[in-house]
Amino acid sequence: MATAAADAADPLTPWGPGERAARLRAQLQHHAQRYYVLDAPEIPDAEYDRLFQELQAIEAAHPELLSADSPTQRVIGKVLAGFASVRHALAMLSIRTETDTTANGAIAFDGRVRRELELVEADAPIEYAAELKFDGLAINLRYEHGVLVQAATRGDGESGEDVTQNIRTIAEIPLRLSNNAAPVLEVRGEVYMRRDRFDALNERQRALIAQGAKNEKTFVNPRNAAAGAVRQLDPAIAAKRPLSFFAYGLGDVQGWDVPDTHSGLLDALAAAGVPVCRDRAVVQGAEGLIAFHMAMGAKRDALPFDIDGVVYKVNSRALQQRLGFVTREPRWAVAHKYPAQEQMTLLRDIDIQVGRTGKLTPVAKLEPVFVGGTTVSNATLHNEDETRRKDVRIGDTVIVRRAGDVIPEVVGVVLDRRPSDVGEPFDLYRRLNGQCPICGSAITREEGEVDWRCSGGLFCPAQRKQAILHFAQRRALDIEGLGDKLVDQLVDAGIVRTLPELYTLGLAKLTELDRMGEKSAVNLLAGLQGSKRTTLARFLYGLGIRHVGETTAKDLAKHFGGIDRVTGATVEQLLEVHDVGPVVAQSIRTFFDQPHNVEVVEQLRSAGVHWEETEGAVADVAPKRLAGITFVLTGTLPTLSREDAKERIEAAGGKVSGSVSRKTHFVVAGDEAGAKLDKARELGIAVLDEAGLLEMLRLPA
Ligand code: IVH
Repeated sequence: MATAAADAADPLTPWGPGERAARLRAQLQHHAQRYYVLDAPEIPDAEYDRLFQELQAIEAAHPELLSADSPTQRVIGKVLAGFASVRHALAMLSIRTETDTTANGAIAFDGRVRRELELVEADAPIEYAAELKFDGLAINLRYEHGVLVQAATRGDGESGEDVTQNIRTIAEIPLRLSNNAAPVLEVRGEVYMRRDRFDALNERQRALIAQGAKNEKTFVNPRNAAAGAVRQLDPAIAAKRPLSFFAYGLGDVQGWDVPDTHSGLLDALAAAGVPVCRDRAVVQGAEGLIAFHMAMGAKRDALPFDIDGVVYKVNSRALQQRLGFVTREPRWAVAHKYPAQEQMTLLRDIDIQVGRTGKLTPVAKLEPVFVGGTTVSNATLHNEDETRRKDVRIGDTVIVRRAGDVIPEVVGVVLDRRPSDVGEPFDLYRRLNGQCPICGSAITREEGEVDWRCSGGLFCPAQRKQAILHFAQRRALDIEGLGDKLVDQLVDAGIVRTLPELYTLGLAKLTELDRMGEKSAVNLLAGLQGSKRTTLARFLYGLGIRHVGETTAKDLAKHFGGIDRVTGATVEQLLEVHDVGPVVAQSIRTFFDQPHNVEVVEQLRSAGVHWEETEGAVADVAPKRLAGITFVLTGTLPTLSREDAKERIEAAGGKVSGSVSRKTHFVVAGDEAGAKLDKARELGIAVLDEAGLLEMLRLPA
């Protein structure tokens, strides 16, 4: 392959289009295998795309060179009226499930196998191939002479549906096998959807529904989403539901020497470019099975896809043949389950929780149920939209999911079990009477948003920590020494409830806190002191008004010049500000409509937080004091940071430039000023120190 890759890098290779196309196909196949199967790409995606496009171009110019196995042929086919039925050459069987999720499940299986083979205790342990039980749907891929010719679902085991068109859109399923041209080779495995892709899909679906799409829905779990995609009649839709595949066995085979062991078989399939999961092992006896079950159980939540158990298979194919089948199940394989991550239970009530940013989350109060390894009695319902879409009502039987450390969630309702006296459709606003359950402030929901929020902001205890951290961050008030651990402590201990209370902290109170030495306490107090001198833009940003980021805060400061003009502005006046639209304007108005928020502003000012107010752009007709004057800053100023100085100059209408030229009016120089200062002297430009600058800022216009 290394030589082929080198060839590809040389577009001048004097090959005919047929040869070139064949080489490109081989290369693309090789790289797709490196990427999807081995998880070890050798070339960047862009290079892959380039090879792909080159092949497409050749095929477009020479249609006679097209072949069914070309990687370019994952094209999206026609919308179907229905799926054709496919009779399986070899029935697709299922396997016995060991529902005892403890080690006994493995011991029971090994015991049965040993008895069936008439082994005695003294005989060596049986060798097993242990793998994961993927939670998707079974598919039979039929390759003839190495080319994928048909893909079928399991159906009733005897006949399934022809879903070739959709399966061909799954990028990681090879359209041609590497180094395997057996006349017939049927690969069986599971089509599934990775959890991150499932989440992204549901996110997209929610967006479509929010935009008014009528026929869209969200999916309960990746398995349903995968099954829906495979059986989707419109391949264009199927192609947008990103699926994956893992092989776990064979169907009909003609003209291929099947390896002697199951593990060897999976290795051979992987070598042929078929995705095979790497979380598998060859183990000895019941002990080996138990160890695998435990190891994968521990890893389960970290896997990027859902599994509902592991599968044990007698590794030797000769022994498999000796063991044979009972009814429709092989005696040589078993599925050993894990505790379910989804369960049904009764929804007793819906509570509403207030998050750190004021987001109101409906929480299901459940009849306690054992799911995902613990007893769950609360589960998130995400937001009102979700709750309505799923039509979750008090009294319903719901499906709860808990996977790993993820917060348990209600994924759907079992409508068949809905009692006749079930509650009304969920209405968050009515439920709360329009008030935050923690602080009583008005709740709001903006157009296009899914979440209701408490407008209490800084006043609402649920939002305090977040609000304080936001206020203290570098780009806002820049309170040195105030990090999240300390904020947690201060709020939890009830020492700080509002932003102004930060400025009432004293040494005595601080040193009472755990792990707070006198030195850090003094540092924090210095940090608080230093933060008091700020700018209006930083202050506005620090208040944490929804939709008011740094840029909007600067625009507001520039436009209004003073805080009172901002708090008092009507929505119409706010709309006059550069880049402020209706959503932002309304959000600012709602914020200052809460008397507590205005109070917080007042208290912060009384605590000594200050900035320079200007007349604002409203009064821009009168020239600002520094209008038309250009400054260059150099060196370290004694108290102002470079950014502060810039902000102040700009607030007064001046301009700050990065380099000194004849157009520069003043150079403001601090310690260790270098070349810019020399240049200023050379050009005879006035040089100010910090005091000089501050003086200038105070001058009347
Ligand atoms: S072996 C004759 N191995 O679980 C043996 N099945 O009844 C055929 N499944 O729906 C199945 N992961 O699609 C096997 N590693 C695995 C599997 C697996 C998932 C599914 C299979 C079928 C059911 C088994």
